[in-house]
Amino acid sequence: MNRISRLKKTVTSMCGIFAYVGTRNGIRLALDCLKKMEYRGYDSAGLAYIADGNLITHKAVGKLRNLEKMIDDQTAQCVIAHTRWATHGKVTTENAHPILDATQSVAVIHNGVIENFQQLRHELEREGITFRTETDTEVIANLIAILYKGDLLQAVQEMVPLIKGAWAIAVIHKNHPDECIVAKNSSPLVIGIGVGETFAASEPNALIHHTREVIYLSEGELARIKANSVELFDEARLPITKQTEQLKHSAEEMSKGDFAHYTLKEIYDQPQAVRNAMLSRFFEDYGTVAMDEISISAAALLAVKRVVIVACGTSLHAGLVAGYMLEEIARIPTSVEISSEFRYRNPIVEDGTLVLAISQSGETADTLAAVRELKAKGATIIAICNVQGSTLTRDADSTLFLRAGTEVGVCSTKAFTSQLTVLTLFTIMMARLRHMSKAEGQEFLSALKEIPEQIQQVLAIAPHIEKLADKYASANDFYFIGRRYMYPTCLEGALKLKEIAYINACGYAAGEMKHGPIALLNEKCPTFALCADTLTYDKVVSNVMESKARHSPVICLTFAGDTRLTKIADDIIEIPMTRDELAPITAAVACQLFAYYCAKKRGADIDQPRNLAKSVTVE
Ligand code: AGP
Repeated sequence: MNRISRLKKTVTSMCGIFAYVGTRNGIRLALDCLKKMEYRGYDSAGLAYIADGNLITHKAVGKLRNLEKMIDDQTAQCVIAHTRWATHGKVTTENAHPILDATQSVAVIHNGVIENFQQLRHELEREGITFRTETDTEVIANLIAILYKGDLLQAVQEMVPLIKGAWAIAVIHKNHPDECIVAKNSSPLVIGIGVGETFAASEPNALIHHTREVIYLSEGELARIKANSVELFDEARLPITKQTEQLKHSAEEMSKGDFAHYTLKEIYDQPQAVRNAMLSRFFEDYGTVAMDEISISAAALLAVKRVVIVACGTSLHAGLVAGYMLEEIARIPTSVEISSEFRYRNPIVEDGTLVLAISQSGETADTLAAVRELKAKGATIIAICNVQGSTLTRDADSTLFLRAGTEVGVCSTKAFTSQLTVLTLFTIMMARLRHMSKAEGQEFLSALKEIPEQIQQVLAIAPHIEKLADKYASANDFYFIGRRYMYPTCLEGALKLKEIAYINACGYAAGEMKHGPIALLNEKCPTFALCADTLTYDKVVSNVMESKARHSPVICLTFAGDTRLTKIADDIIEIPMTRDELAPITAAVACQLFAYYCAKKRGADIDQPRNLAKSVTVE
């Protein structure tokens, strides 16, 4: 497969796969590790193992706990397990992975999308194969069973060239109770090396409690894993060796401590997360920033003529803030692009174009596709990412890690404020290379250093915000409005309320309300006005008055000490005074708390909201 075709490759669905070969009880381990990946997709779950020469499978729709209820005291040393976010095929037990071939000899779990599965299915049906599921994965199982002549690895190697699309698969065969074959193409897959045991999973977080020594498979590679061995092969089926890597995150990140939800824990992680994002990346005495992780010279950074930011969802909102900052502070023309739209354009990439690809997971299909297109046109890519070893970090020329620690809650919180912190530092660095004075740099960095404490102050008013949530949680519609740096922030606040409280919240440029949406305001549709922007404050206050005139109850988020809005708004949330460029960070924390408490009041499933998954790796 040549590089361009691989660049264009689609990326995969969003499921979690796990495989184990070892001497412990692989079934218990599988359930434990699936739990760490359940946020990737939770429509159904299943596992398979070999007992007395037969394949045994257990599968259940819904949450992982439904599968756990089916498992009593069985043990097994060679197990594959899967948690599914449905792409091909409805959410049914039959369509839950693992998927078996027609002869019940081969079991496969798969994270990905096989683009040519219909054609393969028709060919196999013509040969008399009966299919039992609607999944694309079933063609993989049947192809392997047909190609199997006693060597499972060889059967998988012969199968791979027949399929197109994206996959991370794990395969077991009833004749081989001590081995599992794994293969990767565009979907993430990591192998964990234990003592007398070997793991494979979609992401390292699933393995952190069992091993820190990992091998990341690259595109087209396969491995045969056994309890005490890992044999690696490239797509030409030649044996290869790879460097093992050490996982850095701590195991406690994967627990929620005393918090009711991971989401709440991660909201409260933010003062430390922002400190981590800043750590050893700036020198206040010189009023400047040093980001050693960027392997691009100062001269090359100075030669940057345009910045293109590509991202999705919350990361896109961080990109919008960065777009304002880079133009206003560093004076660099910047465009912020929705990845899922940008990838269909034929982008013009002139000399001096720098791309910032923002992705917490580093696995978002649309952003990966946009990056590969930009790379194919010669752009330099800097990833802003939170996951070590993720696909984006491997595709980029340099990566600025957020250092936020694992973000388990599906709705992004600490990653967002960490992204804003890293992007602010990047902006200061670019500005200091150009025209920003030392004094200006020192002033900006001094304000940034205050942010962790200011986040703490916002967290301290959580009881007040919870009261507001109790008052407004029954609303089914909400408008979030803001201008300038508060515009991306209002988009983010609205997204939080949608995601976890299932409230139809719309983020809108405050100045645009009069061009139509104001027709929707009434006493049942509250307005959350983000007024913490000194340059546009008066204008937004006018918008607040317009909302009030339409009987929309108004919550105003503003800087502490604002005496004007207390007379106009129905409710006020005050955040500490800071620079306009930094207000999105503390304002976002208030919006996160508001969304969290509204969701709690409405009894929503906060950590795993319906229809969502943490890593959106489907196009
Ligand atoms: C954010 O709360 C959402 N979970 C979602 O919008 C997310 O930001 C988006 O899918 C992008 O994910 P990424 O940062 O991992 O690329």
